[in-house]
Amino acid sequence: MEKDILNIYYKSVEYKINKRYPSLRYEVEQLELPPSLLQYDSYWRGLESIIHDLITRFDIPVEHCLEFGTEYGYSAVAFSNYFRKVTGVDTFDGDDHTGKHANNYEEMVQRLARWKNIKLVKSDYRDFIENNHQHYDLIHVDIIHTFSETYNCGLWAAEHSKCAIFHDTESYPEVKKACYQIACATNKLFYNYDKFFGLGIIV
Ligand SMILES: C[S@@+](CC[C@H](N)C(=O)[O-])C[C@H]1O[C@@H](n2cnc3c(N)ncnc32)[C@H](O)[C@@H]1O
Repeated sequence: MEKDILNIYYKSVEYKINKRYPSLRYEVEQLELPPSLLQYDSYWRGLESIIHDLITRFDIPVEHCLEFGTEYGYSAVAFSNYFRKVTGVDTFDGDDHTGKHANNYEEMVQRLARWKNIKLVKSDYRDFIENNHQHYDLIHVDIIHTFSETYNCGLWAAEHSKCAIFHDTESYPEVKKACYQIACATNKLFYNYDKFFGLGIIV
C-alpha cells in the first residue's frame, strides 16, 4: 500500500519534470555490447551498449571523444572501443554527489594504462575549457550533478562537439533541466534515453 502511494507520487513528479523540460524520446534500434569493458558496478553500466547506436544514428565521427567526469574509468573504457582517442578530464578528487576521496589520478593512470587510446587529464573542467577552442566528435558530461555546473560545462560541450551527452537525467532533475536549457540556448535537439539513470543527448 505504502509502496503504491510512493509509486504514484514518483510518477506524478516525473510527469511534472518531463512537462517542464520536454525532450524527444530516444529509442535504441540496436544494442551492441563492446568487447572491452571494466568489470565493476559503475552507475554508467548499461549505457555502453548504446554507444554504437548513437554513433550510427547521429553520424558521429569517431576520431576524438572527450569526457568530463571519468572517476574509475567505466565510461572512458566503454568509449575507447569506438573512438580513436578518448580524453578523460577529472579532478580525481570526487565530489559531493559521488563522494569525495584522496586524489587518485596516478592510480587511475596505472589502472587504465593498457587502453593506449585513453589519456587522463587531472583538471577541473573550468580550467580545461578556458580559452579552449578545440572541437570534439562526442563530449560526455558526467560531473557533479548540479544545475549550474552541468549547464556551464554542458553549454561549452554542446558548442564544441557534434554531439554532447549527459548522464543522470533521470536520477537528477537538475541535469535534465540543464540539458533542456542548453538545447534551447544552442538551438539543438534534446533527446532523452530514460534507462540506466538517464542519458541526455544534445545534437
Ligand atoms: C559520477 S562520477 C563519473 C562516473 C564515470 N563517468 C563512470 O563511468 O562511472 C563524477 C566525477 O566527476 C568529477 N568531477 C566533479 N566535479 C568536477 C569538476 N568541476 N571538474 C572535473 N571533474 C569533476 C568527480 O571527481 C567524479 O570523479
